[in-house]
Amino acid sequence: MRFVPPSTIAIDGPAGSGKTVIGLWLAAHLGYAFLDTGVLYRAVALDALEANLDVHDGELLAARARAIPLRISPPDEADRPRGYSAYLGDHRITDSLFEPRVNSVVSIVAAHRSVREALLPLQRGLGERGRVVMVGRDVTTTVLPHADLKLYLDASIERRARRRWDQERAHGSTRDVNSIAADLADRDQRDSGRDASPLRVATDAIRIQTDDLDLEEEKRLIVELLESRR
Ligand code: C5P
Repeated sequence: MRFVPPSTIAIDGPAGSGKTVIGLWLAAHLGYAFLDTGVLYRAVALDALEANLDVHDGELLAARARAIPLRISPPDEADRPRGYSAYLGDHRITDSLFEPRVNSVVSIVAAHRSVREALLPLQRGLGERGRVVMVGRDVTTTVLPHADLKLYLDASIERRARRRWDQERAHGSTRDVNSIAADLADRDQRDSGRDASPLRVATDAIRIQTDDLDLEEEKRLIVELLESRR
């Protein structure tokens, strides 16, 4: 019998839980499309900062979000480690999306229901085409509630901060691990505490605690999981 993997795969989890690394790998492994939905919220936040807009003005940000000239493509040479390139109009913004100034406002921007609604059709549209891995905070609960496979990746704040620290150092950052942990804790609280589509473990999601797993073990576990669903 031929193995037919799940067509829509949704992965959620808190900041730094490794969703993007795993999602990118899984999409490449299966030959599927990949969308890191955090990029959409980060792009709206970056656009607001660049245009000097009030990040508390949900209606204004939603109008910008509906018209945002965001393009996500396979990675340019410089973006190869990230796995994709993002453009706003003609400007490559892949690195800018992860600047501390964006980190500090993105969860404020993402808490506006109007902004979330503005970004939903794009995410659902991609989901409907199938053969996709999508990662974020509410993909398993709101964006693709009928996904064929739902995963929730989790890890302690210490482990997640340490992983981000390693990643940031590889990109030349000198930020210390405590300030990264504080930033993650802050975003966790905002992302789980908001009214609109908060971060939750979907009742039908498979929760994977990754503290004691290295990347290869995590991948092996997921492959076993896929195969057990034949
Ligand atoms: O995943 P990442 O850390 O890049 O996401 C950045 C922010 O975007 C999150 O902290 C969250 O506020 C928001 N986000 C969201 N819903 C998603 C994906 C990201 O609210 N599906």
